[in-house]
Amino acid sequence: MAHALRFDTVLPVLLCTLLLTKAASTSHHHHHLKSLHFSLFQHETINRTGYIVVNGVAGAGIGQTTTPFGTVFVFQDPMTLTANRSSKAVGIAQGTSVTSSLDGLQSISVAKITLPLKNYSGSVSIVGGTHNVKPANHPVVGGTGDFLFVQGYVTSSPVDLKGLTVVYKIAFHLYWPPYATQAS
Ligand SMILES: *[C@@H]1O[C@H](CO)[C@@H](O)[C@H](O)[C@H]1NC(C)=O
Ligand SMILES: *[C@@H]1O[C@H](CO)[C@@H](O)[C@H](O)[C@H]1NC(C)=O
Ligand SMILES: *[C@@H]1O[C@H](CO)[C@@H](O)[C@H](O)[C@H]1NC(C)=O
Repeated sequence: MAHALRFDTVLPVLLCTLLLTKAASTSHHHHHLKSLHFSLFQHETINRTGYIVVNGVAGAGIGQTTTPFGTVFVFQDPMTLTANRSSKAVGIAQGTSVTSSLDGLQSISVAKITLPLKNYSGSVSIVGGTHNVKPANHPVVGGTGDFLFVQGYVTSSPVDLKGLTVVYKIAFHLYWPPYATQAS
């Protein structure tokens, strides 16, 4: 089932090295920090990291990409550096989505993504509409720790929707407003 946060992915994957290089290049001059771009992979296993906690009431049935209107889904998914589940774990996505269209394809999602990255530690909060089979963007509404005041958006695309564990590529496009970088 397609409940994880889904976003269109338009940029190529930036690998760990690039991410850390970027982190290193900005951390030396923290007050000049403007943006950070990187991608991670979210792994969601039905009935293990993600659950339907309230059954929907109308519309489409439960399928690979649909859930009944009103379905409430909650997840705590690991995020890794590559699509391979065995790759380095670098984040956790905790959130919920509520099926919000009668065709069962759309939902409203809220999530907190905890990122204990090197030189960047904290969380990013996102909210937005998700479409199960089309690309979608979710605005970043803020963050904590090193991501305090952060803005931007997160994009995602399904990598593997077959089987019990589905995988999504999540691309982060984070921007710090001037007052955030001045405050740090
Ligand atoms: C983290 O920041 C420190 C101090 O600015 C820097 O020396 C180091 O290279 C950075 N490490 C990474 C992995 O970015
Ligand atoms: C997940 O658990 C629910 C409730 O026990 C069950 O109805 C459903 O078949 C399970 N789904 C899978 C894919 O195991
Ligand atoms: C995933 O990573 C593990 C451990 O590094 C490796 O053994 C396995 O072959 C990888 N799987 C794929 C599909 O690349």
